[in-house]
Amino acid sequence: MKINDEYIVEIEKLTNLGAGLCKLDGFVIFVKDTCPKDKVKIKITKVNKNFATAQLVEIIEPSPHRVKPLCPMQKVCGACQLQFIDYDYQLEVKREIVEETIKNIGGLDIGIPKTIASPQIKNYRHKIQYPISETKNSKRILAGYYKPETHEIVNIKYCPIQPTDCDDIIEFIRQKAFDYGISGYIEKKHSGDLKHVVIRSSAENNDKLVVLVVNATKPFERLNDLAKCIFDEFSNIKGVCVNFNSKKTNVILGKKTECICGQEFITEKILDKTFRIGANTFFQINPKSAENIFSYVKNHIKNNFEKPIVLDAYAGITSFGICVSDVCKKVVSVEENEKSCKLAEIVARENDILNLEIHNEDAADFFKNEKRKFDVIILDPPRKGCTTASLDEAFRLCKNTIIYVSCNPATLARDLKYLTEKGCKVQSIQPFDMFPHTYHIENVAIIQV
Ligand SMILES: C[S@@+](CC[C@H](N)C(=O)[O-])C[C@H]1O[C@@H](n2cnc3c(N)ncnc32)[C@H](O)[C@@H]1O
Repeated sequence: MKINDEYIVEIEKLTNLGAGLCKLDGFVIFVKDTCPKDKVKIKITKVNKNFATAQLVEIIEPSPHRVKPLCPMQKVCGACQLQFIDYDYQLEVKREIVEETIKNIGGLDIGIPKTIASPQIKNYRHKIQYPISETKNSKRILAGYYKPETHEIVNIKYCPIQPTDCDDIIEFIRQKAFDYGISGYIEKKHSGDLKHVVIRSSAENNDKLVVLVVNATKPFERLNDLAKCIFDEFSNIKGVCVNFNSKKTNVILGKKTECICGQEFITEKILDKTFRIGANTFFQINPKSAENIFSYVKNHIKNNFEKPIVLDAYAGITSFGICVSDVCKKVVSVEENEKSCKLAEIVARENDILNLEIHNEDAADFFKNEKRKFDVIILDPPRKGCTTASLDEAFRLCKNTIIYVSCNPATLARDLKYLTEKGCKVQSIQPFDMFPHTYHIENVAIIQV
C-alpha cells in the first residue's frame, strides 16, 4: 500500500475521534467524513506501520444512516463532524465507542446502556467562540470556525447548533466593527484589533453576554463605541465585556476582562438552582443536557444515601455540589481556579445554600491533607483525567461511592482500570450526549469503593 493508491472499501465503524474505520487484508485505514456501512472509493494519504489514513474520493453506496446535514457548511466547517449521520445512530455509535474503549483500555467487560440523548439537537450550544480575521483587500470582517486542520476561517452566517439570534449578533458585529474601523486579527502578522468574539447565552432566558477579545492591553475609544452600539442594538444582551489578549497564543481569553456596558454575567438555571456565568466561567456548553447529568447524579445520591457527606472535586463553580446540596448533610468542594471558587461562593449565597465548604486548591494537595472521610466523592476532571496520586487519595478518602464524570472515554477507561486494580468495582457507566453531531461523549461512572 502506498500514497495515492485508490481502493473500494466498506466502512466498518467510527473511531472515538469521529473517523470511519475500514480494513484491507486486516490492515486498518482511517477515512474521515464516512459512516459505518458506506461503500466508498478512498485514496491513501499516509501509510504508517500499523495503520494508514485515506481521503474519501466517492461514495459508491451510501450508508442507510446518512442524512442531509442540518447545515449547508457542514463539509467545510470543522465543528460538527457527524452531522451527516442520523441522530439515533449517532447515539448508538457513541455507546459502542464507550463500550469498546472501556474494554480495550480499561479491561472491563461491562454492558453500556443507550446514550441519553440531548434534549435539543439544534440550538444547543450556549457558548460560542468565533475567531475573527478580515479579508485581504476589502478588509471586511470574517467570523466563524476554522476549517479542519487549518487556521483558515469559514465565515459562518448560519449555524444551526447555536441559539438562532447568535447569527444576527455576529452579523451585526461584522458590519459595525468594520464601520467603527476595528480591524480583524491577522494571525501571521500578529496585527489587527479583534481576535475573537465570545457569546455566552442562557438556555433559561436567552440572555446574552458578549465578550470582544482584543489584541490590546487597554480599552480604546473605537472599541468602547462598538461595545455600546452592540449593547444598544439587542435587548437580550445584558452585558458587553472586553477581554485583553495581546499575546501571540492559541489561548482565546487573556487574564484581564473589563465590562464596558451592562453587567459582567448572565444567569442560568440548572434544576432549581440559579448560576452566574461570566466571560471566563467554565460552564457546561449544553445546559439542558447538563441538567440530565446533574439530575442523574443527584438521584443516585438521593436514592442510595441518607444525608451523606459529599466531596465535589474538580468542581469548577461547584455546579455538582450546589445541585446536590439539598440531599446532602454537607458538601465540600475543591477547585484550583480562584475565580470559579469566588463565583461559587456568590452562587451558594444567592441560592441560600449553607452546607457548602469551598476550597480553592489543587485537588491532589487537598486530598493529601484531608482527614475527613466522604460517603460520596464526585470527580469531574479535565479531559486528561486524574493523576494516579489523586486517584490513590480519592480511594483513601471515600467510604462508599466515587461518581466519576468524564468528557474523555479513553482517560476514564485508564482511570477505571487503575481503580479496579485497587479493588473498586465499576457498577455502571452511563453515556450522555452533550455535543450532538460531534464525536464528543460525556460519561458518568458509578464506582463502589
Ligand atoms: C471538566 S471541568 C468540571 C467543572 C464542574 N464540575 C462543572 O460541571 O461545571 C474541570 C475543572 O477542574 C479544574 N481543575 C483542573 N485541574 C485541577 C486540579 N489539579 N485541581 C483542582 N481543580 C482542577 C478546572 O479548573 C475545571 O474547573
